[in-house]
Amino acid sequence: MSDVEPRTAPALEVRDLARTYGSGATAVQALRGITFRIDQGSMVCIMGKSGSGKSTLLRQLGLLDSPTSGEVLLEGVEVTRLRESRRRLLRLERLGYVFQEYALLPELLAEENVYLPALMSGGSLRACRDRARQLLAMLDLGNRAGHRPSELSGGEQQRVAIARAMMNDPAILFADEPTGNLDSASSEMVMKALARMNSELGVTILFVSHDLDHRQYARGVIHLRDGALTASES
Ligand SMILES: Nc1ncnc2c1ncn2[C@@H]1O[C@H](COP(=O)(O)OP(=O)(O)O)[C@@H](O)[C@H]1O
Ligand SMILES: [Mg+2]
Repeated sequence: MSDVEPRTAPALEVRDLARTYGSGATAVQALRGITFRIDQGSMVCIMGKSGSGKSTLLRQLGLLDSPTSGEVLLEGVEVTRLRESRRRLLRLERLGYVFQEYALLPELLAEENVYLPALMSGGSLRACRDRARQLLAMLDLGNRAGHRPSELSGGEQQRVAIARAMMNDPAILFADEPTGNLDSASSEMVMKALARMNSELGVTILFVSHDLDHRQYARGVIHLRDGALTASES
């Protein structure tokens, strides 16, 4: 066959992406035409001041919102104009999310928090629990699997949230200020946990941070300013 697609399309490709909130005099141009690509298996940091459009960018890439214009290619497939049912499937099967808040269910054990979503989408209890325990062990939480969130530190809770996001073996993990609520020692453990998921499980990671120290975990850095790309290093 002659013109087959290259086997490894970029994990993400963004072309002239724009997102405007509202309209008329009060419209806010949160993203003003952004273009870049991220290779599979990469770990990229998005930096920029508060209000520069970092969360907006992550939401467009994570299919949690739809851009005003421009294209997003996920593993070579343009996704902004797909039907919502198809986007939902991609979110469930190909993407994972970690936010600043851990959003764990307080009445569930750590391992139950990790595997519950997978169990609800039809996995067997044994397979789900085995994978959850494996992920928790990889994140140095093997001895915390049977604890409730209230018995865990903030950094431990965030690592449980990372394990939960990895349950369905996503191609891309989005993390919006995952260390925003943590002291620097816990932050470092969370960043190392993400780096481990990237290097050992091969998941592509895009994370937002405004801690310059966190650049050391990234292979590329995307700088945003007022909704525009000011630099993209790799
Ligand atoms: N839902 C929304 N409606 C209106 N304006 C919004 C909304 N979300 C974000 N904005 C605005 O868009 C800009 C970028 O916001 P955001 O992406 O949250 O930036 P960051 O994550 O870098 O702090 C800001 O001016 C913000 O006030
Ligand atoms: Mg934000």
